[in-house]
Amino acid sequence: MRHMTIITVMNNKGGVAKTVTAINTAAYLATQETTKRVLLIDFDAQANSTGATIGETTNHVGEWLVGEKQYSEVVVKYMEKFDVLPAKRALDTYAKAIGAEQDYQFILRERMEEDGFETMYDYVVIDNAPSLTTLAYTTFIAATHVLIPTAPEEFSISGITNILQTVANVRKRYNPALKVAGIFFTKYHSSYRSRIDSDMVAGTREAYGDLVMESTIRNNVSVKEAMAYKLPIFTYASDSAAAQDYRAMVQELLTRL
Ligand SMILES: Nc1ncnc2c1ncn2[C@@H]1O[C@H](COP(=O)(O)OP(=O)(O)O)[C@@H](O)[C@H]1O
Ligand SMILES: [Mg+2]
Repeated sequence: MRHMTIITVMNNKGGVAKTVTAINTAAYLATQETTKRVLLIDFDAQANSTGATIGETTNHVGEWLVGEKQYSEVVVKYMEKFDVLPAKRALDTYAKAIGAEQDYQFILRERMEEDGFETMYDYVVIDNAPSLTTLAYTTFIAATHVLIPTAPEEFSISGITNILQTVANVRKRYNPALKVAGIFFTKYHSSYRSRIDSDMVAGTREAYGDLVMESTIRNNVSVKEAMAYKLPIFTYASDSAAAQDYRAMVQELLTRL
């Protein structure tokens, strides 16, 4: 029997390419021949994943979570085999209300079960806000894997220990099957000027060992352009450095699931 893989993309820093990673990981998984269907959930009220895929939306994921709207009223088809469960600014208010409920941490897992996600999707990829919010916490309980993009900067790397600690706690209490799929570097300057970047990667490998993936994503202007055109990097600039790097990253990711 098929098993649904749920990947939550997390780093409690902003600007480390969580959104870019979530969109492009989902996009690449959707192109796999063996994939039936992929869902991208936008769990950030800033709605960047939504904006860079389907654009504007009427209904949002918060309304589905609390039962105000049916799943079919909220989900939007973006591309072949690729659905988006969108966010909106109003998601913040919903998140506050959800966080005040007892046993709120199970809400995403339960809603997915009730709506039969197993029969619809092979992969669910979740984009999070840049902090361990209420909603982000619910993804740790629902997910099979955590994927951690990080930028080669001291302040981005320092958040990793925090995430790993949360994963350990969640594993103990709620979700023993939760795994860290990997940590990888985005916005990577491989030129000689960025000796500091490779030192940072080496240092992170020393600290986190095999959790650090081989793949790194180069800094590449096509990433911003693709977002502006609401296209995955593979569609917008298939030969760009970022497309090559994201392809390699997801292939590596697949070997680590
Ligand atoms: N590999 C890259 N090369 C160049 N710019 C990038 C790259 N990855 C992300 N960016 C840019 O960095 C900014 C932050 O990325 P984003 O995915 O929104 O981060 P987060 O979701 O972690 O806040 C965006 O403007 C995005 O276009
Ligand atoms: Mg984001």
